[in-house]
Amino acid sequence: MSPARRAAKRAPGSRARRPLRQRTAKPQTSARRTGPIRIALLHGPNLNLLGTRAPEIYGTTTLPEIEAEMTRRAEARGAELRSAQSNFEGELVALIQLARNWADAIVINPGAYTHTSIAIRDAIEAVGLPTVEVHLSNIHAREEFRARSITAARCIGQISGFGPQSYYLGLDAALSHVEASRRSHGEAGKRQKRSKRR
Ligand code: DQA
Repeated sequence: MSPARRAAKRAPGSRARRPLRQRTAKPQTSARRTGPIRIALLHGPNLNLLGTRAPEIYGTTTLPEIEAEMTRRAEARGAELRSAQSNFEGELVALIQLARNWADAIVINPGAYTHTSIAIRDAIEAVGLPTVEVHLSNIHAREEFRARSITAARCIGQISGFGPQSYYLGLDAALSHVEASRRSHGEAGKRQKRSKRR
């Protein structure tokens, strides 16, 4: 192959190059109106250390214990739950984007990224899934820098200060939100059908 052809092959945009974009499942184009409600549960940095990390602030319940209880509660309400934890900001962004292909709502504890991450805030906004932000500790009663959440403004609400109960309340809020929006959508559909028949 001539050097010119080799260079053309490497040139950005040249068809010979493999696309950088990863193949992903087709994103949902609109909210699922039927079937079990699916919740993506996401945890940010250092939450994998729960149980031993500052127990005077975060308690002694471990992350696997919280996840098991969340799964039990979700299943008791006929819902499905998948969870993931990451210590990396970009990975959390990717997990939020992945949730778009599967979930009806997100429950997230962004950990310290709550106070710093415009990328996570933008991901929540871009994906458009109803998202509940949860914190074990009361972030408003600690150091000043924790009182500000960058991410909460793109969530439907924030629950903070109830230990593991914050997660369970967050799950309840997310499920109730999706149930209510499915109900109101169903009623709007019925009204539309009735008016078409007239
Ligand atoms: C936290 C509060 C954050 O300020 C902190 O960085 C965490 C945990 C909580 O659950 O209380 O990692 O999100």
